[in-house]
Amino acid sequence: MGAIVDKWLNGETEDFGKKVLHGAHNLLTDSDTGHLFSHDALAELIDTIDDSQLDIVTMGYGKHEPNSWVGGHRGKLSGKELMDAVREGRLWVNLRHAMNTEDEYIKVQNKMFDHLSEMIPGFKPYSVYGSILISSPNAKVYYHADPGEVILWHISGEKRVSCYPNKAPFLDDETYEGLILSENSEELPYEEWFDDHAAFIDLKPGEFVSWPHSSPHKVDNGNSLNVSITTEFTTLASQMRHGARYANGMLRRRFNANPSFDKMGTVHTMAKFAASLPMRAMKVKTGNEQVHKDHFVVDRGSENCLNWFEEPIPRSERVL
Ligand SMILES: [Fe+2]
Repeated sequence: MGAIVDKWLNGETEDFGKKVLHGAHNLLTDSDTGHLFSHDALAELIDTIDDSQLDIVTMGYGKHEPNSWVGGHRGKLSGKELMDAVREGRLWVNLRHAMNTEDEYIKVQNKMFDHLSEMIPGFKPYSVYGSILISSPNAKVYYHADPGEVILWHISGEKRVSCYPNKAPFLDDETYEGLILSENSEELPYEEWFDDHAAFIDLKPGEFVSWPHSSPHKVDNGNSLNVSITTEFTTLASQMRHGARYANGMLRRRFNANPSFDKMGTVHTMAKFAASLPMRAMKVKTGNEQVHKDHFVVDRGSENCLNWFEEPIPRSERVL
């Protein structure tokens, strides 16, 4: 397996983690890795992973309709049939942590991050979770932010990734804390004028993009079946920021405080991180945590391959 990162397309190594950085990778041309991401190989991979590792979602057509982002399940479809449904329907499928589950994929992910650590001075991620995203032509992911640091490695199809500054008003403190506290999913409030401050990256197969930690972003697929790997990782710096936001979230909810993350300096962030440790160790919750529900079963005979339930069913009651 040769070098995984080929070159940066819009910046330099020193920009990694500081700006939206677009690059080229060798995952598709490397003889040890290319075959792992063919559509047939992914269909086989779906058949090997546990159903609880598979997130299946659909979405609306508007620019920002987070309420239309709802989950379902694949019923009795094989991996091949599910891939066909994604090609024909309006679906977003996440093979959650698949890059950490199967030996061949684990090797590839280790190589990806070993190479990045060689390239980038001081880059020492200590947990890396990689998932494989397979999504329909013209599917979209609404404006949101992820809790970890992210690199999106594109494999097939075309998509536009729009990235926004990781500070207020683009990143709303209270909503983002809600994500960290598992109260809500990752969508954030969005205004059209935010686009004036966005970086737009048009990803083609063999390219990747990274952005500063917790930068809000959204994704719009082209008219093609899309496959990407998303790797989410933690560094000491991102763990401290995460812990400080957790502490802020608890203070806001339990003690009616109104902390602002953007106004916190490094020492304040470290103190808040330290304060969050006992709360997280005790798994203190706010009482508002969300329950995941299935709204449909994937069905190639239905419009957009979605057979809707009359009432959403909690995932814990899912019967296949
Ligand atoms: Fe994301």
